Amino acid sequence: MKEAVTWEHGELYLLDQTKLPGEVVVERQATAAQVQDSIRQLKVRGAPALGIAGAYGLLVGMRDSREVSKQMFMDLLQEHARRTESTRPTAVNLGWALKRMVRTAEQAYDQAADSSELYDILEQEAVRIHEEDRQINRNIARHGLGLIREGMGVLTHCNAGALATSVLGTATAPLYAAHEKGIKFSVYVDETRPLLQGSRLTAWELMQAGIEVILITDSMAAAMMAEGNIQLVIVGTDRVAANGDVANKIGTLGTAVLAKHFGIPFYVACPSSTIDLETPSGSMIIIEERGTEEVTHFGLRKTAPDGVRVRNPAFDVTPHELVTGIITDRGIMQAPYSGRLRELFGG
Ligand code: MRU
Repeated sequence: MKEAVTWEHGELYLLDQTKLPGEVVVERQATAAQVQDSIRQLKVRGAPALGIAGAYGLLVGMRDSREVSKQMFMDLLQEHARRTESTRPTAVNLGWALKRMVRTAEQAYDQAADSSELYDILEQEAVRIHEEDRQINRNIARHGLGLIREGMGVLTHCNAGALATSVLGTATAPLYAAHEKGIKFSVYVDETRPLLQGSRLTAWELMQAGIEVILITDSMAAAMMAEGNIQLVIVGTDRVAANGDVANKIGTLGTAVLAKHFGIPFYVACPSSTIDLETPSGSMIIIEERGTEEVTHFGLRKTAPDGVRVRNPAFDVTPHELVTGIITDRGIMQAPYSGRLRELFGG
């Protein structure tokens, strides 16, 4: 499968996820503005992939500024970082990666001979962010593997798969690992209205790996649980607050409430870059509100009356009380989250 984000010979390529699964189109990103548009339009999406694409996007924006003064280079870098961060507010990984890039340049400023050297240092940092994500997901796979048992039905929501990261995904990492070990299980994939990341992306990538997928509409999850088909829920997240509340794709909260009702364990998988200790609780997380046409239309077809009032929050917050455990690259954490998150990720 093509990776969501590729950096090759100083060029950034994004797999256009709005066209999947029908067409596999990889688009070269010529300018920082194009990268920002690609993020806004969800050509690249999913918290860790946003961080990786954002970091490379800064390079795309800076590559013609290698001849300017170091001070001007820093001013431009900060401006690109600010514009890129404002594209999507909920996934903390985007801001995390951009800040890390700017900090790297600041730290190298005095030592670097010129802007060209600053650029090279930034390129190494972006590649490091990308490579770290691969390793993190392999560790999430290792830690989460024990949760997947023979014959299980596992429900997931949205796409926290390889397409949302570098490789393997977060929520899907234990699934890929279990499949590789020959464990047989089924994945119930919520289609994830309104933009169908579940059906278009998760079902597509898991099927390519040969994992058994059962696609359901979001409103079928309760019935699947009531029928006894689901023994485990694993989702990804865009931001974990310091108290363990998690923001994820709209509909995740409903799934967590259902899991609680039916006594099904509800796990969240994420890399350390998704843990935001600066945000005390989920109520402080900014939830992106997207265009109304995503709700009034199904694809290109209009399915709502003219003039209807619409809400379209792209994410919701699941309170930590509903989270059985958080699968991280450093192990599975259980409540109470506040102290443990700080202990493990505070440094
Ligand atoms: O709007 P999207 O498609 O970027 O939303 C993605 C999600 O909500 C994912 O579950 C989340 O980013 C975790 S990705 C490993």
